[in-house]
Amino acid sequence: MCGIFAYTGERNAGEILLDGLTSLEYRGYDSAGIYTPQSGSVKSVGAVSHLRRKMPPGFFGTSGIAHLRWATHGEPTEGNAHPHTDCTGDVWVVHNGIVENHKELRKRLEAAGHTFVSSTDTEVLTHLVEEHLTLLRQGSEGQEPENIFEKAAVAALKEVKGTYGIAIQYKHDPARIIGARMGAPVVLGLGEHENFIASDASPILRHTRQIVFLEDGEVAVITPEGHTITKIGGESVSRAAEQVDWNAEAAQRNGYDHFMLKEIMEEPDAVRNTSRGRIIDTDGLAKLGGLESVAEKLRGIRRVIIVACGTASYAAMAGEYMLEENARIPTEVDIGSEFRYRTPVIDEGTAVIAVSQSGETADTLEAVREGKRRGALTLGIVNTVGSTIARETDAGIYLHAGPEISVASTKAYVSQLTALALLTLFLGRQRGMSVARGKEIAQALRELPGKIEEVLKRSDEIRKVAKKYANTRDFLFMGRKYNLATAFEGALKLKETSYIHAEACGAGEMKHGHLAMIDEKFPTIALAPSDSVYEKNMSNIQEIRTRKGPVIAIATDGDDEIRSTVNDVLYIPETIEMLSPILSVVPLHLFAYHFAKQKGINVDRPRNLAKSVTVE
Ligand code: M6R
Repeated sequence: MCGIFAYTGERNAGEILLDGLTSLEYRGYDSAGIYTPQSGSVKSVGAVSHLRRKMPPGFFGTSGIAHLRWATHGEPTEGNAHPHTDCTGDVWVVHNGIVENHKELRKRLEAAGHTFVSSTDTEVLTHLVEEHLTLLRQGSEGQEPENIFEKAAVAALKEVKGTYGIAIQYKHDPARIIGARMGAPVVLGLGEHENFIASDASPILRHTRQIVFLEDGEVAVITPEGHTITKIGGESVSRAAEQVDWNAEAAQRNGYDHFMLKEIMEEPDAVRNTSRGRIIDTDGLAKLGGLESVAEKLRGIRRVIIVACGTASYAAMAGEYMLEENARIPTEVDIGSEFRYRTPVIDEGTAVIAVSQSGETADTLEAVREGKRRGALTLGIVNTVGSTIARETDAGIYLHAGPEISVASTKAYVSQLTALALLTLFLGRQRGMSVARGKEIAQALRELPGKIEEVLKRSDEIRKVAKKYANTRDFLFMGRKYNLATAFEGALKLKETSYIHAEACGAGEMKHGHLAMIDEKFPTIALAPSDSVYEKNMSNIQEIRTRKGPVIAIATDGDDEIRSTVNDVLYIPETIEMLSPILSVVPLHLFAYHFAKQKGINVDRPRNLAKSVTVE
């Protein structure tokens, strides 16, 4: 949600900030804005390209701050676009998060004579800093107090309740930029005679790989020659920079029309990278270095709760079935946004596992914190290295899927399923899973990337089916057992990229209500791989066909018979049942992509959504 980026150095800040905003665009694209003390501010509604077009010739500066907005408080207008400033135009702020006490602060500041020009919560921060600058000057008998900007900024932040990842700049101290973090991610990039502040490392990596991750309650000050970090209370913090190896090039489109397609095409590599070095074929074991420190504790775990949101929660659903059937551990899935409000019963015998691509999803993060508060062992299955969930959990498994830019999550999903399969192997073998079964899972995992490649080669065929149904407004996705999760994921992908109605249900649930919707205009996408529930699924498909409902089936190579029952078939290679969702989702990702593309929708930026949901 919202992206912040700040630069101080010797180069042209305008160009650096605009380029950086482009890498951050997946966080929001309602409006964009930039400020440098030398040239002032420029803002525009919409994406960074709009802002770029508005930049006046000669816009310059060697330091500045920039923002991409995903609107929470206040319409996505130019007036509400960041950076915001105070009454004097000296204090400039970009902010990701929500100032929860903004109404009371605004009332107080307005009563004191401050004039607000936007309807955002962020603007109170600028006036608060202004107020503290005035107060500090009043107490200093005509002498400009030392470090007045930092003191005023910290005093302002102390008054704020809510979440922020923030960068603040003061016109009269242009080389110095303050960053602070409370509940929304902030990283520093340390370069040669230049430094950066951003919501994540993506806009920084083309300049430096030396990244410092701020913790909640910390304030950083960057200048071209250095940085300091202190706790908001004043205590100084020393933290080494981490070398972040993500390749900025990997985050570019590499010739694909959209990141979504590029990332679907990367699904084989994503699975490969998630399992790289983690499968011991000869013994049928999983080697998970990130879990070594808690391996003994995990042996004693009696129950697992997986917390996640959106696509990650569907990976969790399949993970629940993997863990229960193969590792025999009672497992539940909880939606991150529900978990802490339902007073869950947790003890030390419980492991709370967060699944998250970004590692920053506020609801998932809060669920982890709730688990921790109640004494659970917490684990993270996370893609973004150094993200908050990765750091706050006791141990975890990184996905290594590479940066995912498209709002619609695809390659992260297959990686999450792979990581959950590895975890199943790890925990299962701790609990009496046979060596033979371990070897079978290990080998099937090894073969997966090649099999995904097979499905990707069928993209054209899938595009033709998507074209055939181009005018359809409603889709039902139906699945059972491991592929119930696939049905939910398929429906979500279609909804978020095409803005049409798509819903999912368990195949067995059809006759309990969903079947009433079916007629010749309401197609069902039926997950029907050749597995232990195939016959049951076929009965449900028959029930739909009897009511004239068109059916597109996802079936296993070699199942020629299904052709005579359904209207269209998209085939996937055979694998063991537990891993089938990793293959069956691939045609659904491609179907959603082609379906949306033919509508002319920019699939990488679905309306009203953002990649990283760091607000509740
Ligand atoms: O970063 P996370 O995996 O925690 O994100 C969770 C969801 O916000 C995310 O999967 C969302 O549902 C995607 N837009 C789905 O494609």
